[in-house]
Amino acid sequence: MSETSPGTIAAAQTDGAAGGKPLLQVRDLRTELRVEGGPIMAVDGVSFTLTAGETLGIVGESGCGKSMTALSIMGLLPRPIGRIASGSVELEGVGDIVKLPERRMMSVRGDDISMVFQEPMTSLNPVFTVGFQLTEAIRAHRSVSNQEARRKAIDMLNLVGIPLPDVRIDNYPHQLSGGMRQRVMIAMALACEPKIMLADEPTTALDVTIQAQILNLMNRLKRETGTSILLITHDLGVIAKMAQRVLVMYAGVVVEEAGVNDLFAGPLHPYTVGLMRSIPRVDRSVARRRKLHTIKGVVPSLGNLPKGCRFSDRCPDVHDRCREAEPPLAAPDDLAPGAPARRVRCWLHCQKGRG
Ligand SMILES: Nc1ncnc2c1ncn2[C@@H]1O[C@H](COP(=O)(O)OP(=O)(O)OP(=O)(O)O)[C@@H](O)[C@H]1O
Ligand code: SF4
Ligand SMILES: [Mg+2]
Repeated sequence: MSETSPGTIAAAQTDGAAGGKPLLQVRDLRTELRVEGGPIMAVDGVSFTLTAGETLGIVGESGCGKSMTALSIMGLLPRPIGRIASGSVELEGVGDIVKLPERRMMSVRGDDISMVFQEPMTSLNPVFTVGFQLTEAIRAHRSVSNQEARRKAIDMLNLVGIPLPDVRIDNYPHQLSGGMRQRVMIAMALACEPKIMLADEPTTALDVTIQAQILNLMNRLKRETGTSILLITHDLGVIAKMAQRVLVMYAGVVVEEAGVNDLFAGPLHPYTVGLMRSIPRVDRSVARRRKLHTIKGVVPSLGNLPKGCRFSDRCPDVHDRCREAEPPLAAPDDLAPGAPARRVRCWLHCQKGRG
């Protein structure tokens, strides 16, 4: 996890708020993977809405289903093992993209939603210059001449802060640093002015200084272009810096959804509380590290989930009801009327089990 000072969290809390029109509505998404030992539900009934101009974070430990959620939305599930078993992904102005034929989906990718992955070398082709790849991406979605595409590519490299863009455009990916390659990926993702950028651990492979630069770049571009961001990370420090709202995922389901301010001020789900305690912080006065807590145990195997609450084997607050039935994702019982919407999947907070 990256280092997060109390100051960083405070900065993100004032960084705008959600409230635009819905752009992407994911409803009861279930994604099945046929793996050895039988099928698993990697995403098991996930619902959320991404609104115009917001950054929505998805956080959770490794294997919680964050990437499978993203790949389901993009129509890029691993073949032949992955398939969307049920649910819908409604994209504003397009409709349910789960039902789109692959040809139409290809134009949605890039035109409407583009994706940035953790490791740019797996997405950039090493045998072509970045300029060639960038202009191809532009020409695949816009009818412009080669010359115009090249000019647009140089503008994009400039926008994402690549020095000497008219020289760098003719470099091969291996001639760029990791941070510059990730900037190129962001340029490619934004080249066709998508409504949504889906970023899956975009800075995890980078060192802390470059990570901060890329996150600042994404925040700046979001402000300048109005692109909404769905940001996947295992790092609550990144969420604090970037997102206005957050979904916490555990073992294929959402266990908490809240505004970033509310989540950091008072996490409700015991899993979120555990994640918060494992954020490294520097003490304000003495610059002394607090003792780090970790959540005991590991994420359960999706083929062998505990009965009842999926977190019950690791939860410090587990009680009898938790092992009998899985709690619903619901508004907390004591949510004040008029308070910002939030949801939690825990019997401690949703005794009535209302949805
Ligand atoms: N290609 C694959 N083949 C088989 N199982 C997979 C594959 N990819 C993911 N899974 C399984 O699907 C589940 C969800 O994985 P997913 O990649 O979505 O997790 P994640 O939250 O993105 O984790 P990480 O933080 O490690 O990227 C896990 O149980 C994982 O083992
Ligand atoms: S439902 Fe029970 S086991 Fe699950 S998180 Fe809440 S208290 Fe813990
Ligand atoms: Mg992942």
